[in-house]
Amino acid sequence: MTTTMSTPTSTTMNTTTHTTIAVSHETAQSPEADTSFVARIFPALLHIESPPLRSRVAACWIDAMATGNGGLGWTEDQLRRLPFTLKAGENGMLFVEHLNSCAEQCRAIAGVLSATFGTRVPINLDVLIAGALLADIGKLFELQVNERGTPSQSAGGRLVRHPFSGVAIAARHGIPDEVLHIIAAHSFEGDKIERSIECIIFHHADFVDFDIAGFLGRRATERRS
Ligand SMILES: [Fe+2]
Repeated sequence: MTTTMSTPTSTTMNTTTHTTIAVSHETAQSPEADTSFVARIFPALLHIESPPLRSRVAACWIDAMATGNGGLGWTEDQLRRLPFTLKAGENGMLFVEHLNSCAEQCRAIAGVLSATFGTRVPINLDVLIAGALLADIGKLFELQVNERGTPSQSAGGRLVRHPFSGVAIAARHGIPDEVLHIIAAHSFEGDKIERSIECIIFHHADFVDFDIAGFLGRRATERRS
């Protein structure tokens, strides 16, 4: 059974579209406490105006924190200490900071595009923010930490990268296809398909952080040698 979930027009961006997304009843429901817990870590969650979508994004994080890390689950402290990426040397950027940076970059870029191009560049802000907050959720399965908090790639992560595990967990919670698309296509896996406007925005915000992490990592390596 499906129902329609209306994603609202932003009060701050008058050109944001108002789209209707089909979601499934069976995967609904998430306690208010989950939303406030997740919003403490990822404040942009509260900028998702659709209550069902906001709850579902929170439910994804609660689920991933309970079942990731090789089945051991993640504590909030472990999540907050996790580096942004293991592929860019010592860059000093954290995973949670990266997600918050991308969510805010996406909101800012959407604001500039809407102010400049108006309705010629239609952007669904709820889809964009949900995608920004879920694009890397699969890293909770792709990565693991040992008892000392040292991160490494998990055995599963070597076989299934985070865009795939991210789509799997998000689909389990009734996240709409437009957001699944951002999770699936945000990284190089999406290079061979046409990304949506929201996915294009997130893809570039993501690589702003990633390329800066690489820059900082290279400088740190040079200083040590
Ligand atoms: Fe990613």
